[in-house]
Amino acid sequence: ITRRTPLIAGNWKMNLDHLQAIAFVQKLAWNLKDAGHDFTAVEAAVFPPFTDLRSVQTLISADKLELGFGAQDISAHDSGAYTGEISGAFLSQLECQYVIIGHSERRTLHNETDAEVSAKIQAALRNNLVPIICVGETAADLEEHGPSAVPVAQLRAALASVSNAADIVVAYEPVWAIGSGKAATPEQAEQVAAQLRSVLQESLGQDVADKTRILYGGSVKSGNIAAYMREPNVDGALVGGASLDIAEFSSIVRFQK
Ligand code: G3P
Repeated sequence: ITRRTPLIAGNWKMNLDHLQAIAFVQKLAWNLKDAGHDFTAVEAAVFPPFTDLRSVQTLISADKLELGFGAQDISAHDSGAYTGEISGAFLSQLECQYVIIGHSERRTLHNETDAEVSAKIQAALRNNLVPIICVGETAADLEEHGPSAVPVAQLRAALASVSNAADIVVAYEPVWAIGSGKAATPEQAEQVAAQLRSVLQESLGQDVADKTRILYGGSVKSGNIAAYMREPNVDGALVGGASLDIAEFSSIVRFQK
């Protein structure tokens, strides 16, 4: 089995404007560098709002920072009459490596369906972006179907028409754990992650299943990250609130220390 490089991804959601983003990314990169962080051992990436991406790109490329970055959403279309949407072509032109797709806030607040999530994954892959595919159950789903049924169904649907998924990331984010301070236990995260890995294997084969990183998200902090990372099927974290605090996010990235 190929060793999977852990990925710690900071989803800023709708926080930090482009000026704040520049200061933040500069300080974060210095902080990690000062601490001697090895970016090849644990990858770190930030996901700012669309309007910050150009500033973040310019800074990262000018200062040769080792931080990765990506967008929080993508259009299913590559260009055309889609007012308000942002295409994968634009994102890869801005040197984004990743794009978050199907976050529960988009599924809930913007009624994104599994079919749209699937179309967006294909748009990301067509444009050489690595999709971070988010799945997760609500508190009601958990009560009704247990922890893994909904995330498993969401991932199956997301991958249904994907065949050439060389590089993808899956994020398991139980909706009840997001921003609630009620994180899933490492055992719960592992249990669902293991099932999601089986879906990867069924849908895309053993090689993809072995190399795909599965992240846990939902109230991840510096104090609980190490426990998730000890689980064999958890390969990193998608961090919301705690990614907006430089010292806290750095400690999460440096969970091995
Ligand atoms: O995408 C990350 C997010 O939904 C988790 O948020 O604030 O619980 O870390 P938070």
